[in-house]
Amino acid sequence: MRLIILGPPGSGKGTQAAKLASQINIPHISTGELLRIAVSQGTPLGKQAQTFMESGDLVPDALVIALMRERLGQRDAQRGWILDGFPCNLMQAHALDSLLQIMGQPYGTVIYLDVNIAPLTLRMLQRGRQDDQADIIQQRLAVYQQQTAPLVEFYQRRRCLIHIDGSPAVEVVNGAVQAALKLPVAA
Ligand code: AP5
Ligand code: MG
Repeated sequence: MRLIILGPPGSGKGTQAAKLASQINIPHISTGELLRIAVSQGTPLGKQAQTFMESGDLVPDALVIALMRERLGQRDAQRGWILDGFPCNLMQAHALDSLLQIMGQPYGTVIYLDVNIAPLTLRMLQRGRQDDQADIIQQRLAVYQQQTAPLVEFYQRRRCLIHIDGSPAVEVVNGAVQAALKLPVAA
């Protein structure tokens, strides 16, 4: 199974992707997590990504696409994956298309976690990650509206988008995703 989880900052992409990854037993691949690890390790990628992440802007496409090309080529990713945070603009969506074509992998399903923007700031402030500060959150939400939101229509046109209400409790959202994917419910 190849899944993309799409949604605004704080919508629960990471939370739902982690649950699904253990339910389906395929890797959860989060560009945000991979980039945070690179920053904490001070790798060349981390050094280039850091200022963008600290200001709530997207890391340049070339860096993120190279990172994903490498990650999707790894052995564990051959049996499927759940992408969280990638693609996050049209350029990346086209790059993913090309990557999948080169790898001979079929296209997947996109889960769109639809939530009102208003409560998201509070969710993120309560979480308290390094980029969960009011001004950075505001910038991340603005970047989402400008660059990532157009992907909803992009994938809708391909008829591979599943629309999920991401505002109820975590377990309710997980249940809705499982039902939409027709996964067997855990006993
Ligand atoms: P990234 O880490 O992807 O951050 P984001 O998109 O801003 O999303 P978040 O991780 O904040 O939210 P989430 O949707 O995962 O929600 P979560 O499950 O954590 O990216 C960080 C940065 O990296 C970007 O700003 C950019 O600089 C860079 N980057 C990443 N990908 C990139 C790319 N492709 N290209 C370029 N740059 C890239 O939940 C949030 C909180 O809410 C948690 O505390 C959680 O417990 C809680 N919560 C979750 N679900 C619910 C619920 N249903 N009810 C109540 N609380 C909930
Ligand atoms: Mg996340």
